[in-house]
Parts: sequence; C-alpha cells; structure tokens
Amino acid sequence: MNAVLQGHTASDSLIADKVNQRTAEPLLQVQGVSLEYRTPERVVRATHQVSFEIDPADRFVLLGPSGCGKSTLLKAVAGFIQPSEGQIRLAGVQIKEPGPDRIVVFQEFDQLPPWKTVIQNVIFPLVASRTLKRREAEERARYYLDKVGLSAFADAYPHTLSGGMKARVAIARALAMQPKILLMDEPFAALDALTRRKMQEELLALWDEVRFTLLFVTHSIEEALVVGNRILLLSPHPGRVRAEINSHQYDLNSLGGVGFQTAAQRIHRLLFDEAGTEPTDRELSFQDVRIAY
Ligand SMILES: Nc1ncnc2c1ncn2[C@@H]1O[C@H](COP(=O)(O)OP(=O)(O)OP(=O)(O)O)[C@@H](O)[C@H]1O
Ligand SMILES: [Mg+2]
Repeated sequence: MNAVLQGHTASDSLIADKVNQRTAEPLLQVQGVSLEYRTPERVVRATHQVSFEIDPADRFVLLGPSGCGKSTLLKAVAGFIQPSEGQIRLAGVQIKEPGPDRIVVFQEFDQLPPWKTVIQNVIFPLVASRTLKRREAEERARYYLDKVGLSAFADAYPHTLSGGMKARVAIARALAMQPKILLMDEPFAALDALTRRKMQEELLALWDEVRFTLLFVTHSIEEALVVGNRILLLSPHPGRVRAEINSHQYDLNSLGGVGFQTAAQRIHRLLFDEAGTEPTDRELSFQDVRIAY
C-alpha cells in the first residue's frame, strides 16, 4: 500500500474491535456540552448539556430542526468555539483550538479559492499546514482526486465545474489531509435532488474504501438514515439530546421501503413531538433506539 495513505485506513482489527462492542476509548467524546453566543444585548444558548461519543469509522449524524445548534456543535468540535459547560475530547485530548486533525466541509463550495486549479486547491492545505512537502502533497492530491473521479479535471478552475464536482473537490481536499475526523455541515444541501443522492452514494462508496470517521450534520431525516450508522436526534432550540439511534441497516437501496419509511416516521415523531411531551413508550420501543432522554 502507498505509505502516504496509511494513517487513514482502518485496519481489520479496528473493525473487529467495533464488532466486539466498543472496547477501546471512543475517538470523540462530547460530555455535557452547552454552547452559547454572547452578544452585547443577550446570551443565546445554542445547545444544552449535549453528550455523545463517536468511535473510529463511525458515520455519526447530528439531526435536528433548524436552529437547534447542529452547526454550532460542529464548530465546537472543529475548535472554533469553546463550550461554556462540559468538554470535548478527541483521542483523549481536550479540544482547545482548530487543528489539521479535524477538517470541515461546508455547504458552500465557493470555499474553493477560484484562482487555484482543482489540484492546487487540494495541494494548498497540505503544504500550508506543513503536513507534506510539495511533491508528496501533489501525489496525495492526485490519489484523492482519483478517488472522487476527478483526475481528468485536475487542471480545471472551480468556476468551470458543476455543483456536484465542486462538492467532490471539497471532499477530496478534506480527505487528503487525512484528518482523525471529517466534519460535514449540510454538504449537499445546495445541490439538486438527483445530484444530492449521487453525492450520498459516492460518499458511502468512499467511506467503504477509506473508512474515515465522519461527523455529518443534516436536517433531512432521509439523508440521516442513508448516510449515518448512528444518528443523534436533537430537540429544537436550544438543542438537547432526544435520542440516539442505530441506522446502519439503511442505505440508498432502502429508500421507499416500508422499514425505511417507518423509521423515518418514528424519527419525525421523536424530533417534532408536537405536544412537547416526552416520547411515548411505543416510540421508545423502536428497536434501534440506543439511548432515550
Ligand atoms: N453568531 C451567532 N451569534 C448569535 N447567535 C447565533 C450565532 N450563530 C448561531 N446563533 C444562534 O444559535 C442557535 C443555533 O444555531 P445553529 O446555526 O447552530 O443551528 P443549526 O441547527 O445549524 O440550524 P440550521 O439547520 O438552520 O443550519 C440559533 O438560535 C442561532 O440563532
Ligand atoms: Mg446549520
């Protein structure tokens, strides 16, 4: 195997560890985290005492209504904001600032500097962060551009690419950094429905091959079920954990199936319980609910 890529590939023993039920320490621990924005007039509490853990090679989804603090949680994991309460640890170390071990892919693909070609866009963070020298960076960039099917567009400029292609460049650029955890904030929300589905499919195929650890934010129940192997359901503002669900059994092939639709309806009820009451016993008998609050 190419030595450059070793850091990123989950070993068979790691997968076996997961199957043998989470013996190792979680990769990411979010413990009782409250996040606040302070403006001169007031304090806005975005999340309230949120806790969850992510294991290596998880595809962990934060799902909740607009304003429940998903993006804020992602920013806290990225190290851009600090919790007012609780703590976040990556591989046992408390997160205090941004670092190359956590890379964020946002919804706006105009995050790609337009004056750089596709390959220059992928190379730049590798060299700027002193992760690799120029020649190794180029080798690694080509490897990941190939993985996302963009080898032929290495010398193209971003404005000549479709939305889906820009999304692929952003993913290649993030994966090339071989982060401990890849953070994605509604990365496909701006794409049309067909392209969005295609990107979900490609992301899952990439995960199958590379086995990166993913923290993925969405407010689409369907996308959460397709992309995630675990889903954290957050209540409306300020976000609190409502439940955590195992969803590894669903993928794009399950779309439209009875099991998929039933799961989606139950998640909807758990999220948007109109009376604001606690989930009913029947809802909590949902066999995939791991934790309910
Ligand atoms: N810079 C900010 N200053 C003050 N309040 C903010 C700021 N950013 C977000 N908020 C508030 O924090 C809360 C959570 O916002 P956040 O963007 O994390 O929600 P979200 O779940 O990502 O929503 P969406 O699905 O719409 O993206 C909201 O009430 C929002 O108004
Ligand atoms: Mg958001």
